[in-house]
Amino acid sequence: MKFLKKTDSELHSLIQAETKRQKKTLMMIPSENIVSKAVEEAVGSPLGNKYAEGYPFKRYYQGQAVVDQIEDLVQDRVRKAFDVPYANVQPLSGSPANLAVYVALLKPHETMMGLSLAFGGHLTHGASVSATSVFFRSVPYRLTKSGFIDYEEVEKLALREKPKIIVAGTTAYPRKIEWKRFAEIAEKVDAYLMADVSHLAGLILAEAYPSPTPHVHIITTTTHKTLRGPRGAIIMVTKKGLKKDPELAEKISKAVFPGLQGGPHMNSIAGIGVAFKEASKKSFKTYCHQIVKNAQVLSKELMERGLHLVSSGTDSHLLLIDLTNKNLLGNTVAEACEAAGIVLNRNAVPYDPNPPFYPSGIRLGTPGITSRGMKENEMKKIAKWISEIIDGVRETKQILKFTTEDEKKRKIRQMMIKKTPIIKKIEREVKRLCNRFPIKSTY
Ligand SMILES: Cc1ncc(COP(=O)(O)O)c(C=O)c1O
Repeated sequence: MKFLKKTDSELHSLIQAETKRQKKTLMMIPSENIVSKAVEEAVGSPLGNKYAEGYPFKRYYQGQAVVDQIEDLVQDRVRKAFDVPYANVQPLSGSPANLAVYVALLKPHETMMGLSLAFGGHLTHGASVSATSVFFRSVPYRLTKSGFIDYEEVEKLALREKPKIIVAGTTAYPRKIEWKRFAEIAEKVDAYLMADVSHLAGLILAEAYPSPTPHVHIITTTTHKTLRGPRGAIIMVTKKGLKKDPELAEKISKAVFPGLQGGPHMNSIAGIGVAFKEASKKSFKTYCHQIVKNAQVLSKELMERGLHLVSSGTDSHLLLIDLTNKNLLGNTVAEACEAAGIVLNRNAVPYDPNPPFYPSGIRLGTPGITSRGMKENEMKKIAKWISEIIDGVRETKQILKFTTEDEKKRKIRQMMIKKTPIIKKIEREVKRLCNRFPIKSTY
């Protein structure tokens, strides 16, 4: 980055610091991943200089000969990979993609249904703080006490509320989504069924997780999670979708542009194309199956160490640890893990007794560490460290007689972490592990 260093040393050194942080720590936030240098090159290319309002071969400005070919090629790769007749690669990210589908199909205040944020749905699935529930009426469904989607509740609510769209998709749900079950419910009320596979796209392409394509009308996905591409998103319409509504693709195209967006980010679109090329390789299939294997080993090891997992395991890349039996907040454990170099996030658990800012769980996943080449043996180590960290801070909390109210104060949490000596020891071991598995440039 010699040009950046010369032009803007301040930002250069911040980027260097972040690069170092990523090298020296375990990326275990399940929505994160490490892209190849090929993807980085496409995203950093002069394509970012080009305005291309419109769609391939129907633009509003001149100079489109090359970018038309690029967008056309990327759409084609997506259509083939997901076996769908329509793919829009322009949404700037996952949230605008979901909003575009709602704008395409709902009039203001018409009803949609999605998994409640508190139970693992995304903000854009109708959370009260999201624009989706300001402009549309949202009816949330939940998980059962054992942590699985409550299909009976989904059906009951759908029959009662008659939503126009049902969203099947999650941001913190470790298990398989029963696409067929959702399809049966949507058919009963003549709703559009949209799968938001943002977390799962890579796993689906690698056949490490069931595909929604035969069952749903619309698929949305981000491109930067298990798919291992740049930040961006895609909206697809399936054959079933076009059968239900022959104008569905056109409605979505119009909602993205000119409805919600102006010029597409052609550099990101090219990066998405590179990610799909990489995902078509055999090695990507191996990678995604390893992601799931790693998550399952991690789950088993954590449970054997007395930790409660929502739904008692995982079928995917992520797991959710319920800390209520440990009498700890997710905040404390997430911060203690970060101090040891294990970067994950706090998360609500189903029927969480604590408020969203101080939830009772942590969410972690394996896409990032599997990209570095880590396998089952490393998962066993990581499970041991996480469990030791939890036991360590729990013991400190007991010795210092802190209550959960005390624990809500950042200073108290910092004190707990400082007074738990095992964290320093684990930090050294995490660094050693990271050095053994350097971040790769190619996949
Ligand atoms: C299921 C799901 N949908 C949509 C999004 C939104 O994506 P973005 O953060 O790119 O807006 C996310 C992000 O985590 C997600 O998990």
